[in-house]
Amino acid sequence: MISEKLEKARAYEAENEKKITPQMRPVFHLTPRVGWMNDPNGFSYYNGAYHMFYQYYPYRPFWGPMHWGHAVSKDLLHWNYLPAALAPDEPYENGGGCFSGSAIDLADGRQLLVYTGVLSEKQPDGTMHDVQQQCVAVGDGVNYEKCENNPVMTAKQLPSDSNRFDFRDPKVWKAADGSYRCVMVNCDNKGDGRAVLFESKDGFSWNFKSILAQNNGKFGKMWECPDLFELDGKAVLIVSPMEMEAEGLEYPNGHGVVCQIGTYDDETGTFTCEHAQTVDYGVDFYAPQSTQTPDGRRVMIGWMQNWAFVNQHAETEPWFGQMALPRELSIVDGKLIQRPTKEFDACRKNPVSHNGVCVAGLEAVKLEGIEGRVADVELTIAPKSKDDSYYMFEMRFAQDDKHYTALRYRTHESELELDRSYSDSRIAMVHKRSCKVKDNGGKLKLRVVIDRFSAEVFANDGEQVMSVTFTTDTAAKEISFVADGTVYMDIVKYDIE
Ligand code: FRU
Repeated sequence: MISEKLEKARAYEAENEKKITPQMRPVFHLTPRVGWMNDPNGFSYYNGAYHMFYQYYPYRPFWGPMHWGHAVSKDLLHWNYLPAALAPDEPYENGGGCFSGSAIDLADGRQLLVYTGVLSEKQPDGTMHDVQQQCVAVGDGVNYEKCENNPVMTAKQLPSDSNRFDFRDPKVWKAADGSYRCVMVNCDNKGDGRAVLFESKDGFSWNFKSILAQNNGKFGKMWECPDLFELDGKAVLIVSPMEMEAEGLEYPNGHGVVCQIGTYDDETGTFTCEHAQTVDYGVDFYAPQSTQTPDGRRVMIGWMQNWAFVNQHAETEPWFGQMALPRELSIVDGKLIQRPTKEFDACRKNPVSHNGVCVAGLEAVKLEGIEGRVADVELTIAPKSKDDSYYMFEMRFAQDDKHYTALRYRTHESELELDRSYSDSRIAMVHKRSCKVKDNGGKLKLRVVIDRFSAEVFANDGEQVMSVTFTTDTAAKEISFVADGTVYMDIVKYDIE
């Protein structure tokens, strides 16, 4: 049964998407069909295609009662929209609507969506408060029916020291014996974030198992959007902590994403952290979710925005919010490595390369065929000789006479800075972020993926990643280079089709 609310959302998106031409969107980053998008939800491979659902408010380019938008893809880059999957049409979603969640195949071939229903409930003191509970819906890849027993997990099942309002973002997976596990975020009554674990035989009836991991004040306060998976023989717990306090260039102030690598014990339902790192050092990356590809790779997609900066755009924007490029994950030397997927590499066309280019002084170098607002640029820079050094190298892109976004490398600090101060981004907010890269005598390998309104920087084959969005006019498509000192550069640029 399709509710009136869902039917209305589906009719609205089908009618209004016609106003958005392909030129108004990125080429290979998913945007909302219309209106607003935040977190990726239900990222999965089901019935021969990748499914991506997303936090969605179709009616305005701003957050509103949450729906789930829906798109499918064969390669994680070219997406086709499907009708909205969920609308907040049940009494238990009359607060914020259908918050984030995930998807899994059931034994009978149907797909199960597990999500947070946000109920507005009168409290004993008479005030109204949003209460978060987990709900399920089952479907065939297009239409989903909410279960009569919703909610299937409530905060009443949590330990007595739990805050019962913050309990959200279920990420479900299948255990070795075919039963289900689900990790969610919660915090204790002092506001300390944690991830909690539930288990189920059938996906419909759930029991509290354990506190998977407690923050103990380390990474921000409340956590959001947990994801737990096995990678290269280790357990990886990724969460998006709110209100972090930076430690040097790690865990930049505000909301960000942290990866913890360690061990997971399914008997006790506990995770032990051995190493932690920032997932993205740029400005715009939050609430990622991962899935496993049919050939066994772990691929993660994040929301390419940040809550701190999102409410300053105009009502007239055709859409707001986009997903980041899918990243293939691995662990090398105990650390998380993130790279574009092989499907993305297969879309690269028309290479233009220049080798041994000398960039010296602050005179901008522009190279034949190196430009564009849809491009994948790989470059390696190095000083002239081993005894030589330079202070700074800068690549500018999305550039015209007045505007550019800069990627700046300060050799002496081994610091890489992504800076959109001059990008004409209409929004008043944080413009710069930096990270440390390995000290390699001034040698650095960079890959910069540009898709009209965003850039993703992969340093040293994915040891660090930085993401940024910008609203620079798409006519600004020059790329140039400057250096303080003398640097030699090998560069290749591809179109993406
Ligand atoms: C993270 C988040 C989630 C929540 C959703 C609401 O970006 O705050 O915790 O489920 O967005 O849209």
